[in-house]
Amino acid sequence: MSHFTNKVAVVTGAGSGIGRALSLDLATKGARLALSDVDTAGLAETVRQCRLLGADVRSDHLDVAERAAMMTYADEVVAHFGSVNLVFNNAGIAYSGDVEVAEFKDIERVMDIDFWGVVNGTKAFLPHLIASGDGHIVNTSSLFGLLAMPSQSAYNAAKFAVRGFTESLRQEMLISKHPVKVTCVHPGGIKTAIARNSTAAAGQDTKALAELFDKRLARTTPEAASRVILRGVQAGRPRVLIGSDARALDALVRLTGSGYQRIVALWPVVCCLGDTSRRDARDHRARTGHRPADQPAAAAQRARHHAV
Ligand SMILES: NC(=O)c1ccc[n+]([C@@H]2O[C@H](COP(=O)([O-])OP(=O)(O)OC[C@H]3O[C@@H](n4cnc5c(N)ncnc54)[C@H](O)[C@@H]3O)[C@@H](O)[C@H]2O)c1
Repeated sequence: MSHFTNKVAVVTGAGSGIGRALSLDLATKGARLALSDVDTAGLAETVRQCRLLGADVRSDHLDVAERAAMMTYADEVVAHFGSVNLVFNNAGIAYSGDVEVAEFKDIERVMDIDFWGVVNGTKAFLPHLIASGDGHIVNTSSLFGLLAMPSQSAYNAAKFAVRGFTESLRQEMLISKHPVKVTCVHPGGIKTAIARNSTAAAGQDTKALAELFDKRLARTTPEAASRVILRGVQAGRPRVLIGSDARALDALVRLTGSGYQRIVALWPVVCCLGDTSRRDARDHRARTGHRPADQPAAAAQRARHHAV
C-alpha cells in the first residue's frame, strides 16, 4: 500500500497506547477510520483528537473477544464506508503469573482477547479486504511472540499463536494471489498503559510490576511504534520488530536457539517478574548462595519427585 489517503482503516483497542497513536497517525495521513475499544472514555478521547485532525471517524464499543459482535461490526463498517482496506488487530491485555499459580480462567481470558480477538478480527474482515482489491491485515503479536519469559506463559501462548496464525495467513494470501498483504507486529517495551492495566496471579505485586515495566522495560513511545508499523505496512513487510530491545532479543533467539531460555532465566530483571516465592528464592540465593530449604514450591516439587 503506497499511501493511506482515503483508505478505510479499522483499529481495535484504539482508546489507548499504540492503538491511539496509530489512529492519530492514520488520521494525519488522510485515512478514514473505524475505531473501537471497550474503554468508552479512552476511545472518545482518541476520536476527538482524530476529528480535530479532520479525519472521518466511526466509533464503536467493541469487545474483540465477542465473535458475533465482531462479525456484525465488520458488516456495519463496510456498509458505512463502502469498503475496508486496513485492519489493525491491536487490542490486547497483559497478565503475569507462573504456571503453578495461574488460574485457568485468567489464562483463558488472555487467550480470548489476545489470540481469539485477532482471529475474530481477521476472519470477520478478510472477505472484505479481499473484495477491496487493496487490503492489508496487521496483527499485533509481541516480542513475547518471539521468545518466552517466566511468568508470561499465557501471554506468550497467545502471542506465539498470533504469530503462527498470521504467518500462515500470509502464505495463503500469496498462494491464492489475493490482494491482501499481511504483517505481524512484534513490539518490544512500549510506553503505554498496558502494564498498569494488567492483572496478575495471586501473590504478585501488580503495582511493582507496572513500575518495573514503566521505568526499566518500556523504551519506545507509542508514537514511534506507530511510525515503525506504518512504514512496515507501506513497505509490505511480513514482520515488523519495534525497538532495539525487540531486535536484540530476536537476535539472541536466532543465535542461541533454545539456549536463550537458560540465559533469560539468569537475567536479574526477569526474576523480578515472577511470583513472590520465586523472587524470595532468588533473594535468598543472592544472600546465602544456597537454594532455600523451606521454599514451599521447591519443597512440594521435591516431595512429588520422591513420591514417584
Ligand atoms: N506496550 C508494550 O510494551 C507492548 C509490547 C508488545 C506488544 N504489545 C501489544 O500491543 C497491543 C496494544 O497494547 P498497548 O501497549 O497499546 O496497551 P494499552 O493498554 O495502552 O492499550 C490497549 C487497548 O486495548 C483495549 N482492550 C483491552 N481489552 C479489549 C477487548 N477485549 N476488546 C477491545 N479492546 C480491548 C484497552 O481498553 C486499551 O485501550 C496489545 O496487543 C499488546 O499486547 C504491547
